[in-house]
Amino acid sequence: MDSRTEALRKALDADLKEARTAREVEAVRVKYLGQRGGLITRLIKDTDFQSLSQGERRAVGVGVQELKSFAQGRIEKALLDASMAGSLEASYPRVDLTLPGVSPGLGSITPIATLQVFLEDIFRGLGFLVEQGYEVETEYYNFDVLNIPPEHPARDMQDTFWLDNGMLLRTHTSASQVRVMRKYGSPLRAIFPGRCFRFESTDASHENSFYQCEGLMVNRGVTVASLIGVMEMLLTQVFEQLVTVRLRPGYFPFVEPGFELDIRCLLCGGQGCRVCKRSGWVELMPCGMVHPRVLAAGGMDAEQSGFAFGLGLTRLAMMKFGIPDIRLFDSGDLRFYRQFPAAV
Ligand code: PHE
Repeated sequence: MDSRTEALRKALDADLKEARTAREVEAVRVKYLGQRGGLITRLIKDTDFQSLSQGERRAVGVGVQELKSFAQGRIEKALLDASMAGSLEASYPRVDLTLPGVSPGLGSITPIATLQVFLEDIFRGLGFLVEQGYEVETEYYNFDVLNIPPEHPARDMQDTFWLDNGMLLRTHTSASQVRVMRKYGSPLRAIFPGRCFRFESTDASHENSFYQCEGLMVNRGVTVASLIGVMEMLLTQVFEQLVTVRLRPGYFPFVEPGFELDIRCLLCGGQGCRVCKRSGWVELMPCGMVHPRVLAAGGMDAEQSGFAFGLGLTRLAMMKFGIPDIRLFDSGDLRFYRQFPAAV
């Protein structure tokens, strides 16, 4: 009897060593402890108790019982090991490090922001400061101090969102001109890009919110030639080709003289096409020599002169990136934004 139980113990251990999964351990359990054909179960059935003395019967009973609990203990432990290994494997799925990674999606930078950073770099290179204005402004800085008194017809050019407290959403970045002049005095070279608002109905080229980049240069001896020179240098870098500009008279109460700056059409080279409406020129930005009253309000003495321009950032982004409808910018349509890269 002892030799048989000893052999079963060894066989059980050997079998459990092979069993890796819970299912395999279960098969071992059935093999040894199964109700019907289990090897240990059969030990009792196969013993001819009739032929044994009382003492021998007890010895067999005790021996089989010990073997049973030994087997149960071993099987339980093997089951635990197998399920631990199984759950570990489940929680650490195999990783194939040679597969390409999954991109987390960085989003993309809007073309206006890209262009703004680009312009800031160019202007910094020309010695200009980059200033920030206020989107909520006073009537004084947006209109009055820019030579646009309340009854002035020029106010009709810029329909305005008024706030309950009498302030307004700035209609142009020119609203910061006098603030910046007072802050720095002369000589002054600064740009101030930002969002502007107008109470307008929207279409492919009009939005109630859009971006401008104001530029201001004040010093003794600043002339229209300085304005043209800076603009030509800037636009040549923006469009990455030689750009020819011309000035036409334009009216803005805070500049004198005031101009509309056109560039020679980049598509047809001035021959005339649909984009330039057959004129060979594309209107790009209003500008002019800062009005003496505005200079005075900014604390400049009579020796100083300066130019200002109001670059339509949104408009320029549309031209540079070929965007046909201004409403796409605020559309929330990811198909639009995804066309632009994540990095500047
Ligand atoms: N602020 C003007 C506008 O938005 C543009 C402008 C700026 C004109 C600077 C002249 C000089 O219409």
